[in-house]
Amino acid sequence: MRVTVPGPNSLAHAERAAVVECPAFGLRRVARPGANADDAAPIVLARASGCELIDVDGNRYLDFAAGFGSVLLGHGHPSLKRALRDQADTLIQGLGDVFSSDVKIALMESLAALHPSGHGQVLLTQSGSDAVAAAMKTATLATGRHGFIAFDGAYHGLGFGPLAACGFQASFRKPFAPQLSAHVQFCPYPGLRGASVEASLALVREGLRCGTVAAVLVEPLLGRGGCIAPPAGFLAELGRLAHEAGALLIADEVWTGLGRTGAWLKSEVDGAAADIVCLGKGLGGGLPISACVASREAMAGWSRGETIHTSTHAGAPLGCAAALAVLTTLREERLVERARELGNRAQGILRERLAHDRVVDVRGAGLMIGIELDSAATALAATRHLLRRGFVVVTGGIDGATLTLTPPLTITDADIASLGAALREGLDAA
Ligand SMILES: Cc1ncc(COP(=O)(O)O)c(C=O)c1O
Repeated sequence: MRVTVPGPNSLAHAERAAVVECPAFGLRRVARPGANADDAAPIVLARASGCELIDVDGNRYLDFAAGFGSVLLGHGHPSLKRALRDQADTLIQGLGDVFSSDVKIALMESLAALHPSGHGQVLLTQSGSDAVAAAMKTATLATGRHGFIAFDGAYHGLGFGPLAACGFQASFRKPFAPQLSAHVQFCPYPGLRGASVEASLALVREGLRCGTVAAVLVEPLLGRGGCIAPPAGFLAELGRLAHEAGALLIADEVWTGLGRTGAWLKSEVDGAAADIVCLGKGLGGGLPISACVASREAMAGWSRGETIHTSTHAGAPLGCAAALAVLTTLREERLVERARELGNRAQGILRERLAHDRVVDVRGAGLMIGIELDSAATALAATRHLLRRGFVVVTGGIDGATLTLTPPLTITDADIASLGAALREGLDAA
């Protein structure tokens, strides 16, 4: 580290941001339990390369957040930069759903083949929230129903459609409650607050009984809710129950998909046979592109032609080129397999280093790892300590007590071990 964190340049930039940025973000930072002045003045980033971030003061950090999990290949991967340069030289913007582009069609072909059926159809969108909104509309049109079953602790994005199904923080929904769909029933997510699979499935079964549920919307591993993987068999049974009731299964793989959890689709390896899969985050490797990928049967609801889901930048060529480069590089560099193998080792490394009375649990799948600490205040203090030692880590979990590690899939065993050692040192000193 070159200067104490946050350095003078970061402080000066943060002051400028405080004048022009929506106040929600700064206020939320200082409102956290155990927050102090450091939290109101975070570091400001200037550059990045591979797994390393560099702030405006020249401090270097190992990046265990990777743009909330979106920087799958690491920062500035040569194949992604080449694809972006080539595409920028040829076609940056197309004409969305009116006139397609060659690169958009190539991307849709790749994504259609990723659907569990092997030949899905694709709606390209711009953010995770947008992909979930498209999936909810797709399920509504396919079934002629308006209800959804979602889960406590789940995060699906903050647009009005997905927000209605976000069980993550009731306070996110509260000010907008009258504008949100009233047709969402929340069920317990197994493993969250001690909920059992049986209790969860019993409530899902009960919820489906009304016959008005279009889809069950589920994260195959609860991400923001604290990196909680449901027990084996849960997702498969969820799919079975949904189908039995004439509803669809939407797997929100915005965070878990494309290798993050050590599989192309976590729902698929868990046997869930999702009708609709939402992809985002890592799909663009850092660029804003996402997708709703559905079975041909589910997508058929759109063929009546009465409505569409599109936007100016949906399927824009630059994002499509980025996504194609990400998919190709994941395959060529076997990064999905790498995430699975390294993820298993990482949990072992961290458990060994973090046998400590403040560590409640180390869990997750692949390179989506949660370290639950004994309180939100401990977690916040740990992130501050890690930042000073040169590691960027964010907190998650419904109560903010979980450190969420979603590094680039190119991170190494040694990087993980050094994070474990630095965290251990911080917990010992606390
Ligand atoms: C599972 C899941 N779905 C949807 C979203 C929303 O994605 P975005 O922030 O790109 O709108 C997120 C974001 O964290 C997510 O984790």
